[in-house]
Amino acid sequence: MTAGIDDIAIYIPRLYIDAADFAEARGLDPVKLQKGLGVSQMAIVDANQDPACLAANACLRVMEKNNLSPDDIGRLYISTESAFDESKAMNSYVIGMLEQVYGQGSFEHCGGVETKFACVSGSYALYDNTNWIRAGEAEGKSALVVVSDIAKYDMGSSGEMTQGAGAVVMLLNDEPRLLEFDPKVTSTSIKDEYDFYRPFGKETPIVHGQYSNLLYMIQVRKALEAYKKKVISSNLIKMKENETILDHMDYINMHLPYSNMGKKALAYLVRHEWRQLPRWKNILEQIGMEEPIPKDPRGTIESVLADEEFMAKDHEFTKLFTKTQEYQDVFESKLSSSLIASTMIGNLYTASLYLGFRSSLEFEYQKGVDLEGKRIGFGSYGSGSSAMVFSGLVQPEYEEIVKSMNLEAEIGQRKRLTWSEYEELHENKLTPEQSKVHTKKEFVLVDVKTDVESRGERRYVFTS
Ligand code: CAA
Repeated sequence: MTAGIDDIAIYIPRLYIDAADFAEARGLDPVKLQKGLGVSQMAIVDANQDPACLAANACLRVMEKNNLSPDDIGRLYISTESAFDESKAMNSYVIGMLEQVYGQGSFEHCGGVETKFACVSGSYALYDNTNWIRAGEAEGKSALVVVSDIAKYDMGSSGEMTQGAGAVVMLLNDEPRLLEFDPKVTSTSIKDEYDFYRPFGKETPIVHGQYSNLLYMIQVRKALEAYKKKVISSNLIKMKENETILDHMDYINMHLPYSNMGKKALAYLVRHEWRQLPRWKNILEQIGMEEPIPKDPRGTIESVLADEEFMAKDHEFTKLFTKTQEYQDVFESKLSSSLIASTMIGNLYTASLYLGFRSSLEFEYQKGVDLEGKRIGFGSYGSGSSAMVFSGLVQPEYEEIVKSMNLEAEIGQRKRLTWSEYEELHENKLTPEQSKVHTKKEFVLVDVKTDVESRGERRYVFTS
């Protein structure tokens, strides 16, 4: 049985901090954010928003757009790394909010859980729900997989320039109009690591930034190796001599903690794939230097990062490689459109990959590309750490959905925060009623109880 993504909706908070204002306040060169990281604006949640209401707002959008009733939805999964309760799952809050609109008890038989594995958990949730449909368990119903996060780092930390917030919801069913997942090729890699993690009770993560960048690329490459083997053994793709698996992906969507991480990761994967092929000789001639090798090629990630001479040479090599026409062609045709939304919104942790997918569809369609039958590869990464590589084919009915995509309209009118407003919000100094904007027909948080008996209980309303 086929299964895949039928439709997709997003919800992005209305507040943002501009990269220029951020750089000025932190004494940074704005070009570091805008060009070095690919960050122009970072979405920031208002005082009356949390990841559950971002998720509920996204769900309502996809349900209203498709005229769905709660009876059409058999499962609602939420993947997040911004959980605020150690036991009560975030999908229960979302169902509570949706029932304010659709009626008490209307989602009574909608199963689901909250899943966690840093930024990769949404991909595991998609895979599990796809298989629920493939197994025939869905009985004609659809699943909602929501990825919702607030990417918030400590004040003054290097991660602070890669923040953002938002939710993406994907409607899955057995007659998907957007993308059908390729069966039996989803591949993973996993390793116990501490590149980025958030201990109990801490609102912001502990991050080893450069370590996390390198680990992300290594883990995705390992998952890609496994994917390649499955694709060949399952006969999904016939690989000819001197081809790489990336030649068979029309688009590549990567996890985007900041948009340039997509560029970095693509360059790493392409280098790795092309190194074995005759075309590499021509690339090396253009670059004019040998590909650098670390002093200890079998060393740890720490030893590679500590090898300053290698890191400097490798950086130089990568820069030259990414300037070659051959790499530029791959970048422009397979990745560039997926980065546009990330530049405007920032990091969405679990949702970053899927915002990139959404961005790619809209901006490739606007270029006039016929997307039918195109294969999209996904490189998902979650710190801690695990990667997942999978793929799917754009379906003949895709245009029905993609033609009306309009990122700016879906984000809505935004308010540019002043630095002091940003600081107040970041340090949680405001109560929900002190929110910066008042939105209509949206779920907002109105109260979090603090008394001993009911501490942590949250109350939400649907604004009129
Ligand atoms: N003008 C133009 N470019 C500049 C510049 C300037 N004045 N100054 C620096 N740059 C460039 C640098 O050359 C670099 O580009 P390249 O990577 O192409 O070399 C880029 O700007 C970033 O500069 P640095 O590497 O010096 O930046 P940093 O070390 O201060 O911080 C970071 C970068 C490590 C990503 C940091 O923001 C961070 O810790 N972020 C959070 C962790 C993270 O996002 N990790 C990603 C992988 S883990 C993951 O993906 C999970 C997740 O979602 C968090």
